[in-house]
Amino acid sequence: MLKPTGTTFEEAAAVPLAALSALQGLRDKGGIKPGQKVLINGASGGVGTFAVQIAKSFGAEVTGVCSTRNLDTARSIGADHVIDYTQEDFTNNGQRYDLILAANGYHPISAYKRALSPKGIYVMVGGSMAQMFQAILLGPGISLTGSKNLGFLSARPNREDLVFMKKLLEAGHVVPVIDRSYPLSEVAEALRYLEEGHARGKVVITV
Ligand SMILES: NC(=O)c1ccc[n+]([C@@H]2O[C@H](COP(=O)([O-])OP(=O)(O)OC[C@H]3O[C@@H](n4cnc5c(N)ncnc54)[C@H](OP(=O)(O)O)[C@@H]3O)[C@@H](O)[C@H]2O)c1
Repeated sequence: MLKPTGTTFEEAAAVPLAALSALQGLRDKGGIKPGQKVLINGASGGVGTFAVQIAKSFGAEVTGVCSTRNLDTARSIGADHVIDYTQEDFTNNGQRYDLILAANGYHPISAYKRALSPKGIYVMVGGSMAQMFQAILLGPGISLTGSKNLGFLSARPNREDLVFMKKLLEAGHVVPVIDRSYPLSEVAEALRYLEEGHARGKVVITV
């Protein structure tokens, strides 16, 4: 499809997988609604920076979880509240959320369940392998035993959702956060950086 008007090629390249994962997690799996309390765990990464902005565009009250050095980034993209995971465990602070999207980190699925409001939804998009397996293997069973719903998202690339994102980008509701751009000759270095797990937004290759 056509590149959104007003975005650079680097910004446009950052969108497809990360933004569609965030969109499908929040809207399709999470059923996000205006006014809901939504928490994004891993708010400062590639998926998380899109998730915060998309959740805001749906009218949610958004809490972003990241480390100290990324708190300002989370605020700058619209998070209403920020939690520093090095200082506070959001699954133990007494707050309850209507929707939790896990883009990074690890908490046992029982802790996510505890942090949900009575009909809350937990969507696991990324993070540790243990977090993924718990969501896939235990999520469906736990969801059957009460009013909360816990599960895993497998993002599906499709044109319709790219069109949806194009509109959000052109309206300025979502702005891709680019941490670093690398030339094609430095792909290996770019992947090494990404694999450290602390990118602030997306890492882009320029061709
Ligand atoms: N399910 C799907 O279809 C799908 C699609 C796309 C991606 N994914 C997965 O989604 C995950 C996220 O991808 P991504 O591109 O967003 O990753 P990323 O950009 O590499 O994530 C880096 C970010 O994660 C934060 N982070 C690291 N440890 C954390 C913790 N314990 N708690 C909270 N935040 C933490 C880092 O912040 P600090 O530096 O502040 O720690 C950093 O800003 C990956 O596991 C990826 O494989 C899944």
